[in-house]
Amino acid sequence: MKTIVWIKHATQLITMAHGNKGPRIKEAMSDLAIIEDGSVWIENGIIQAVGTTAEIEKQFKDRVHEAEITDAAGYLVTPGLVDPHTHVAYGGSREREFEMRLEGATYMEIMNAGGGIHATTRMTREATEDQLVEQAKKRLNSFLKHGVTTVEGKSGYGLDVETELKQLRVMKRLQEEHPIDLVPTFMGAHAVPTDYKGREEDYVNLIINEMLPAVANEKLAVFNDVFCEVGVFTPEQSERILEAGKKYGLIPKIHADEIEPYQGAELAAKIGAISAEHLLKASDEGIEAMAAAGTIACLLPATALFLREQAAQGRKMIDAGVPVAISTDCNPGSSPTTSMPLVMNLACILMRLTPAEALTAATYNAACAIHMEEKTGSLEPGKQGDVVLWEISNYQELQYLFGVNHVKSVWKKGVKVVG
Ligand code: NIG
Ligand code: FE
Repeated sequence: MKTIVWIKHATQLITMAHGNKGPRIKEAMSDLAIIEDGSVWIENGIIQAVGTTAEIEKQFKDRVHEAEITDAAGYLVTPGLVDPHTHVAYGGSREREFEMRLEGATYMEIMNAGGGIHATTRMTREATEDQLVEQAKKRLNSFLKHGVTTVEGKSGYGLDVETELKQLRVMKRLQEEHPIDLVPTFMGAHAVPTDYKGREEDYVNLIINEMLPAVANEKLAVFNDVFCEVGVFTPEQSERILEAGKKYGLIPKIHADEIEPYQGAELAAKIGAISAEHLLKASDEGIEAMAAAGTIACLLPATALFLREQAAQGRKMIDAGVPVAISTDCNPGSSPTTSMPLVMNLACILMRLTPAEALTAATYNAACAIHMEEKTGSLEPGKQGDVVLWEISNYQELQYLFGVNHVKSVWKKGVKVVG
């Protein structure tokens, strides 16, 4: 017996449907392909048809009685949101560091004194796999409640072979045990562990010679990410690590130009990274290079806000032809949020994306940044039934009524998981 879901009479149905032609740039980021009085018809988790309610009613008139029907009159319906950059599977919490920063300490001072990423690394090493799974599930549940149906997750709080693998195995279990699609990224190069201080090259070699082969052997990751930052990994070290990952089929990503300008955007373009993350301090040349290479800018305005820094130049990047995606960066230090709706709001307020661009950046372009665009990111026949029903009537309101969670219901692969 087929499970049929029919969501009908949406005041605005945002389909984002243009076929999968790669990430959207410039004006295409504003084209939401909206259907008024729209309907989505989903069978066994896969979208069969999208159109006006009259069209869908006609097409499926013999089977309407079989469908679970949701009347979305008065409401907005969009694709499930995609969060293409998180550090969701970690141990412990760091609220005391938040206080310390408000008292005047900087993010890097805390990290260099053994806190920051190192503190979470200690707590992640101490935690059992089961504990990490339980903690991450709570965060994933919160993502779902905020309309997020697909999430990328990075390792990088292990910083030794055993714990990096543990974190990735935790994500593999989450993928099996939680409705959210969780796309794994290896990020052994998140920080140089404290016991490698002064012998950074040894740690780079450990990543290349031991971690990458082990991760590839167990097929635990799709992407390979590096924190290319002054005092963390140099552009040269980052390039070596990412090139080594390519040999195992791991696709490069880079935390680039977050705290200080460091030619990270240029490096991302040069080595063919799928995306460069953060980019608060990206240079004009770096932005041009990314536009020319088609590198996706994954911008994290909640991180800028939480670190009390100027956000990335999202407006300038879109105008320059860079495909832009946005993300929470969900992590215990620089952005402990799971709210993609807030991130969309901040993309508008802090980076001057338009409401339409922010929605594209949080759905289709975000899916492209983690190679999930064949499955999700838009409402089109053949894609997964990942759908959000919002208790508002148009997409501008979604960005304008900011800081509020407007989610009413969420379907993941055609199954109602919220509301
Ligand atoms: O993306 N920048 C590096 N990594 C994270 C922060 C991690 C942490 O503070 O625990 C980020 O902002
Ligand atoms: Fe990050």
